[in-house]
Amino acid sequence: MTLHFPQGFIWGTATSAYQIEGAVKADGRGESIWDRFSHTPGKTRDGHTGDVACEHYHRYETDVALMAELGLNAYRFSLAWPRILPEGRGRINQPGLDFYRRLVDTLLRHGITPYATLYHWDLPVTLDDAGGWPARATAEAFAEYAGVVAAALGDQIKHWITINEPWCVSMLSHQIGEHAPGRKDWPAALVASHHTLLAHGLAVQAIRAASSDAQVGIAPNFTASVPASASPADRAAARAFDGYFNRWFIDPLYGFGYPSDMVALYTAAGLLPDGMPFVQPGDLDLIATPTDFLAVNYYTREVVAAGPNPLQPDIVRLDVPRTEMGWEIYPEGLYQLLMRLHTHYAVPHLLISENGVSYLDPVTPDGAIHDERRIEYLRLHLEACHRAIQAGAPVEGYFQWSLLDNFEWGHGYHQRFGVVHVDYETQERIRKDSFGWYRDVIACNGLE
Ligand code: FCB
Repeated sequence: MTLHFPQGFIWGTATSAYQIEGAVKADGRGESIWDRFSHTPGKTRDGHTGDVACEHYHRYETDVALMAELGLNAYRFSLAWPRILPEGRGRINQPGLDFYRRLVDTLLRHGITPYATLYHWDLPVTLDDAGGWPARATAEAFAEYAGVVAAALGDQIKHWITINEPWCVSMLSHQIGEHAPGRKDWPAALVASHHTLLAHGLAVQAIRAASSDAQVGIAPNFTASVPASASPADRAAARAFDGYFNRWFIDPLYGFGYPSDMVALYTAAGLLPDGMPFVQPGDLDLIATPTDFLAVNYYTREVVAAGPNPLQPDIVRLDVPRTEMGWEIYPEGLYQLLMRLHTHYAVPHLLISENGVSYLDPVTPDGAIHDERRIEYLRLHLEACHRAIQAGAPVEGYFQWSLLDNFEWGHGYHQRFGVVHVDYETQERIRKDSFGWYRDVIACNGLE
């Protein structure tokens, strides 16, 4: 069966600065929380860091040539804040902007539309030292940075994503402590979540002020939350997990405010000891500023059962095939998510800004990488996406994560999400079978 995507469908891949660029000391780049975190013993597997990564900073022309060979019409990347404002605000480091200018020039020469993410987790350390995301000033600094970048590059970059994955920026990094800066302070994480969303709202305005034809969106990550059974307790647990992971972010973005059931749960658990004084008058309107698209990152689901309390559910590990990350393959969750965003939140323009999978398929003696499992994962998710489009969801593009194997945060180089394999000894790029498969998908605008 052939599945055709709508004419003009955007086919992309996605990456982020710290995961691929390397060159962390080049041309006046400042230090980020990920430099510091990855250099702190015990924080990443085998002490891996992004110091070198894929050396994309120096090899971007090779990498854009690979994109052109794929036939991409769009590429999502992120800008490293500390390359541009090494102290977080104030002094502009022109060589940092120049790098992104060179990258974008090269993309445009190949007919590839740049989608630039402003924050994919590399906060300048100076800002973290001054309080980081739990401090309101960080949201204001982000708006300043967004304005600087849009003024400098807005003639060529027309598509902007403000924040990548506000749940990760706040909860994973400040409550669970698995990502930089590695705090474990739930009340502070809730404050950070608000400032992350506020930063987005302020940046939408700053970008539009600097570049009147800019298209702006945000990229939350969604995890499907499915109850382990039909029991009322399990259903309530799944609802709370959905609130914690998904609704806490998407509800305020679409004008519903913070979900009252979650405010009640957090209050009952003592996590909002003073209420929510950090939500100042006007903040919720700023956060709900209408955007031009919603960018959606989707990988998996969690199966949730009632646990010791509503905020500590049991995450049930069903005996099903899993990816190298341990994540269940659940394409139905993507279909349901797209339909929910379409029907409940009435999102008018949707992009899938990340979807992909890690498998460690070896390089065979003839120099090939047969990653059939990646092809299957991508195919199932594209089918789900196509089904949602048929049912009316306004999905306009798909960005596969990722072009290259890269530094997968706490997992270091032990996870490989690329359609291109990277040999970290030599920096050789090797096309996996999925590369040719995705090239064919793009060429025929669908699945044969
Ligand atoms: C997402 C991140 C991205 C990458 C993928 C696997 O949460 O945005 O940087 O780590 O997961």
